Amino acid sequence: MAKVTFLPSNIQVDAKSGRSLLDLALDAGVSIQHACGGFCACTTCHCEVVSGGDSLARPEEDELDRLELLDKTPQSRLACQTKVRGSADVVVRVVNDD
Ligand code: FES
Repeated sequence: MAKVTFLPSNIQVDAKSGRSLLDLALDAGVSIQHACGGFCACTTCHCEVVSGGDSLARPEEDELDRLELLDKTPQSRLACQTKVRGSADVVVRVVNDD
């Protein structure tokens, strides 16, 4: 099972495959904005993958469209749309804390 570490809080959680970064963050008490409630309708759950991106499912079209609205980096993802798929550990930086 992968571990996901959220920065800057440095909170680490066990990540069951198929769970989104947003769900993992909220369950662990990580401060992260999620204005639309996780429906890919805002961009407030923006995060940047620091390492372990191979353990994350690739973004789908809806997420890519939303990311175009951001001042993004190649490591940018929307936490609500990003599901854990692998077993290697992941580190992500929350861009907008709550
Ligand atoms: S919570 Fe709105 S896009 Fe992720």
